[in-house]
Amino acid sequence: MPKLVIVNRAGEEKAVDVASGLSVMEAIRDAGFDEMLALCGGCCSCATCHVVVDGGWADKLEPMSEDENDLLDSSDHREANSRLSCQLHINDALDGLKVRIAAED
Ligand code: FES
Repeated sequence: MPKLVIVNRAGEEKAVDVASGLSVMEAIRDAGFDEMLALCGGCCSCATCHVVVDGGWADKLEPMSEDENDLLDSSDHREANSRLSCQLHINDALDGLKVRIAAED
């Protein structure tokens, strides 16, 4: 099962096993992190599931849709590797992916 490394806003890391097909947002929620709201439940309409993807992983991810890009633009904390975690789905090629929960807007 692919591993996902999650870093919370306090800088604490937790590695979890995630079933393929699950979104990174669902994996973060299932891992017990309550600081990421994910208010729209994964419909790509709230931007409260904002994460920053670690280093070299960015180009291995699903391409960003226009909607996702627009929503990220509404964040004061957008970084070069920002993504909405509900739009990223775990698969074997993403084993070891590391994401940091972005600061709250
Ligand atoms: S959960 Fe709302 S955009 Fe991802």
